[in-house]
Amino acid sequence: MRISDTSDLWWKTAVIYCLDVQTFMDWNDDGMGDFAGLAERIDYLSELGVTCLWLMPFHPTTDRDDGYDITDYYGVDPRLGSAGEFVELVRTARDRGMRVIIDLVVNHTSDRHPWFRAARRSKASPYRDFYVWRADRPPDSHKDVTFPDRESSIWEYDEKTEEWYLHRFYRTQPDLNITNPRVRDEIVKAMGFWLELGISGFRVDAVPFVIETTGVDQQELDRFRDPHGYLRHLRSFVGRRTGDGILLGEVNLPHQDQKAFFGGKDGDELTMQFDFIGMQNLYLSLAREDARPLARALRRRPAISAESQWATFVRNHDELTLDKLSDEERAEVFAAFGPQPEMQLYGRGLRRRLPTMLDGDPRRIRMVYSLMFSLPGTPVLLYGEEIGMGENLAIDGRLAVRTPMQWTAGRNGGFSRAAPSRLVRPVVEGSFGPEHVNVAAQRGDPDSLLAFMSLLIRRYRESPELGWADLRVLDQPHRHVLATECAWDDRRIVAVHNLSAVACTVPTTLDGCDTTYQLIDLLEDRDPVEIDGRGRIDVPLEGYGYRWLRLTPRDGRRLA
Ligand code: GLC
Repeated sequence: MRISDTSDLWWKTAVIYCLDVQTFMDWNDDGMGDFAGLAERIDYLSELGVTCLWLMPFHPTTDRDDGYDITDYYGVDPRLGSAGEFVELVRTARDRGMRVIIDLVVNHTSDRHPWFRAARRSKASPYRDFYVWRADRPPDSHKDVTFPDRESSIWEYDEKTEEWYLHRFYRTQPDLNITNPRVRDEIVKAMGFWLELGISGFRVDAVPFVIETTGVDQQELDRFRDPHGYLRHLRSFVGRRTGDGILLGEVNLPHQDQKAFFGGKDGDELTMQFDFIGMQNLYLSLAREDARPLARALRRRPAISAESQWATFVRNHDELTLDKLSDEERAEVFAAFGPQPEMQLYGRGLRRRLPTMLDGDPRRIRMVYSLMFSLPGTPVLLYGEEIGMGENLAIDGRLAVRTPMQWTAGRNGGFSRAAPSRLVRPVVEGSFGPEHVNVAAQRGDPDSLLAFMSLLIRRYRESPELGWADLRVLDQPHRHVLATECAWDDRRIVAVHNLSAVACTVPTTLDGCDTTYQLIDLLEDRDPVEIDGRGRIDVPLEGYGYRWLRLTPRDGRRLA
């Protein structure tokens, strides 16, 4: 492997930033963010060091699931701008070295999509078979619903044609029938359209549900014998059309089950998958101040091919799901980070952002982001994480963490000049509101979280071993400490994180090292850590301390 390989597989060392156009920046004063506003903020994102934008759905929508209910796969929601503005945005981003990926939501459409309107008009409609129907009364399926606050079945009765249709999510989101070759063609056609407009791939929504075949009969199944073959087809299609485009999949399954979604040994299905298991165990470790659950999850992460990648994250736009923890473990995390019922959602998650969960403790917040950026994988940030935004629990459900971006201390946090009552969503209130947490104040402050996040991003980007390496969890005696080593080619980084408030010194051993090497601190201006003749080191750590140490031969040529 050579450094030049990193440009081919750009996504292995990308810094991805997820945002929703409608809550990012309003440029026409109507209270809703728009593409023109986002374009005005491209330089901010570029300065932060972001290399890839992930745009949440921006298509025409009935807005019953914040845009994840699409009525036209080829359109831009006119409230956000035009197709022309979309293209200008992609072009401006590219000029600043940033790629754009967009959400691909094809498990379902909106129930107002023309296909579904036609499908429910008559059983004889040519679009009937675009969806999954059953004539007999469905069995109890309340355990299978995704949103138990509003749904109790994955089947909804349709009065007109007197049959039930399948919906994994809300009843306003009928599932497409993936066994139908016409549906599969439509999906590829829509993907091709956006790829032609210059995007670099997709964040693929709800992948396991997209290819599952619940509720279809044998004849239909026969049309779709190899669900993973379809993912392979999508991957090679994106590859053919773009050369280097990606599929970043949402697959919240146990690690072993995720393997199949990366494809065969060459990694020919999803390019990347979010590491939900790592994320959930990170919170368990934080709650316990014990690094072992996270260490175990990292050790058990399946090995993947060089053409595949994990996407690491601390928070996303949904509830912080803890569904893969045991009931007792989840209860521990709830008790630590979301004890009040209004902070919890669906019995499995928390509708909070990280800084509020950590009571705004700057040392701890920084430690968590330092940890995330030091893990092998590609980091994904949710807008506002770089300044430490909180949530607004007065807003319904998952939308609590999707409040307007906080740019200034002024009215509406500088997001919009419209009257506050006209905003697409209210801003955060209280100590995490824009008066206290905003971009403008942090930009000029070298000690701000924003400055720290920029540093992490810069160091991550300078350290391709973090994106490419295999991880080793190093042996050391403290259970509240995670010590990891990423080695790739002749590059090695040791990262040490203290999950507790108790300061300590971490002794560990680095294989194959001796006094001809030293460890250079990459985050703070400190003396190098010395290595003895047998590779032993002692790393002092403050409470909630964090250090990234680059192994450097004393006569090495690499810039520290
Ligand atoms: C994914 C999205 C979520 C959405 C759901 C249905 O889980 O992350 O926001 O509601 O899919 O599209």
